[in-house]
Amino acid sequence: MNQKYFSTKIIEWYELHKRHLPWRDTSDAYMIWLSEIILQQTRVSQGLPYYLKFINQYPTIFDLAAAPEQEVLRLWQGLGYYSRARNLHRCSKTVVEKYKGFFPNTYKELLTLSGIGSYTAAAIASFAFAEVVPVVDGNVFRVLARHFGMETDISSASAKEIFMAKANELIPHHNPANFNQAIMEFGALHCLPQNPKCEACVLKKSCVAFAEGNQSLYPVKTKKIKIRKRYFYYFVIEQNKKLLMQKREGKDIWQGLFDFYLIETKRSTLLDKIIKEDVFLNRFSVGDSSSIYKHVLSHQVLFARFISVEAKSIDKNLLKSDQQKFYSRKQIMELPKPVLVTKYLSDINFL
Ligand code: ADE
Ligand code: SF4
Repeated sequence: MNQKYFSTKIIEWYELHKRHLPWRDTSDAYMIWLSEIILQQTRVSQGLPYYLKFINQYPTIFDLAAAPEQEVLRLWQGLGYYSRARNLHRCSKTVVEKYKGFFPNTYKELLTLSGIGSYTAAAIASFAFAEVVPVVDGNVFRVLARHFGMETDISSASAKEIFMAKANELIPHHNPANFNQAIMEFGALHCLPQNPKCEACVLKKSCVAFAEGNQSLYPVKTKKIKIRKRYFYYFVIEQNKKLLMQKREGKDIWQGLFDFYLIETKRSTLLDKIIKEDVFLNRFSVGDSSSIYKHVLSHQVLFARFISVEAKSIDKNLLKSDQQKFYSRKQIMELPKPVLVTKYLSDINFL
């Protein structure tokens, strides 16, 4: 098989089967960048409404750069991986301030921007500027590994480089954008993780995995991600119909989002014990506890309980006043919040 065979077949397939998506028929780097950041670790069906919301609210990169971070996080709410939203915002400011609102037009320079890694830089450089540089994401790993029988462990440090080198051999110089779109779309719609559509495949004659009959063994991945269990006890402290909420800081999940007074334990613990040991909580009468909310994130599972606390008066000195404040229902609606918190608030008919 020559290299041209692979790219020709896959681009032909793409022209027949591609989905029409708003970021596909444009070479506008802003729209392409926005879509790629949203679509990292997100399916098109989930990402599309967010893309439309962002484009509607921020038609240009200047609008996005001028927006308050809290508003951007609120709009992002529900997509997860909130550091992506903060990097998106930071990147927009850099592009406006340093590049007068125009994205740099090379792979290498794009890589220097916040939140832009090799995948996103390659996507923007090829789709917007026709640079010959291959995209390698999870779909591309799978398609190349199966078709060429590549046994590289994709959890190894060198995998990205090896697959990029392979894709580099294949990418046609006159049409890098379509090749990149095609291979990703082929992975997303045809060469599926489970039950790839091999019988109807334009590449079945040259596909190593098909010939071997072991499609499910590709791509090779040895390292299992360890899932961490965390136990969250959220104390929902109410005073005059307002709830105490805090802005999350630090390196943990949900940085910049708002949640409640939180005690975390390594294992499931009796509520009485938690309350007794907390100098803040042991002053109040603690009310009902919710059932357990299980919330699954990519590398962790949270088991959360929400406990209502009625606080007639609170010594303000006990609050970290820069972070913890009482908010009215209306204010809480506007705050960026983790989906877990929103779910609880709507279960108790607060929102
Ligand atoms: N996933 C990541 N990038 C994509 C794109 N440009 N089109 C469709 N799905 C994608
Ligand atoms: Fe993927 Fe099957 Fe086509 Fe091979 S034959 S590229 S495994 S869909």
